Amino acid sequence: MAAAASAAPAPGRSGAGSRSKITIPIVQGRKGGPKLTMVTAYDFPGARLAEAAEVDLILVGDSVANVVLGYETTTRVTLDDMIHHTKAVARAKPQALLVVDMPWMTFHVSPEDTLKNAARLIREGGAEAVKLEGGANRVEMVRRLVSAEIPVMGHIGLTPQSVLSAGGYQIQGRKLEEAQAMIKDAQALEEAGVFALVLEGVPAILGQIITQKVQIPTIGIGAGPDTDGQVLVMHDLLGLNFGHYPRFVRRYAEFADQGVAALQLWIEDVRRGSFPGAEESYQMIDAAALELLERSSGDHSDRSLTAQGSVLP
Ligand code: KIV
Repeated sequence: MAAAASAAPAPGRSGAGSRSKITIPIVQGRKGGPKLTMVTAYDFPGARLAEAAEVDLILVGDSVANVVLGYETTTRVTLDDMIHHTKAVARAKPQALLVVDMPWMTFHVSPEDTLKNAARLIREGGAEAVKLEGGANRVEMVRRLVSAEIPVMGHIGLTPQSVLSAGGYQIQGRKLEEAQAMIKDAQALEEAGVFALVLEGVPAILGQIITQKVQIPTIGIGAGPDTDGQVLVMHDLLGLNFGHYPRFVRRYAEFADQGVAALQLWIEDVRRGSFPGAEESYQMIDAAALELLERSSGDHSDRSLTAQGSVLP
């Protein structure tokens, strides 16, 4: 567990629990600092948590596949799944910028198809920007979205949607040629108009170099400390992920352990009859309760009936 350092409020923040809407220009204006924070949320309570903490961006990530829906890979999640989860997050009306992942195969077929799919995330789901994985190979799709006024966030490095072709999840850009190709990808995406760029699973030095080489903010996950912002999966950060935690995760709570312990206490209380107590039960008007007891006597010979006391709301 780590304590957060306090800092002066960043633009868009009052530091007092009420803040103005985080917009694309605000995010772009944070290049070079103060650091951006983005966290995933997939439902209403998750969005409320993220919003109460005053995160800058909420990502409805396709990691919903792994952490919420129990799939092995993100390739299983559909556009309809993403719209469903985005709607729930949007209902929290976050001031954080709401970014939504375009799932696998929704931006690979044609620019027109990509545009229609992104428009559904915005119109039906309530997304304010979309994120898509890939570098120079996706520039055509990015251009089409940007020309339709759809803000796009790029995502390069370890791209989980490539798990089948890559044969697993490996840190990317460790070799010189790979690193150079990734710098080119970042520049191509910037040229195409992405407003920010996620760098996932790359050596810290490469995270630093790409951040220096582009004018748009970079948001790292396993990309070292020098990117313009950081993103984590909420369930990892809160210790609510029952599986493996990648090395780049720092857990700030142990929700899974605390949740199991709380459930066990409740089970114990139910079994020994201490839950619910009077404070968790509703009472009748005294006279009515007495009358009911009288009329019911004999009906429940196996139980002792007692009047519960005075009137409660
Ligand atoms: O889906 C997701 O959660 C993501 C983040 C890891 C950046 O893409």
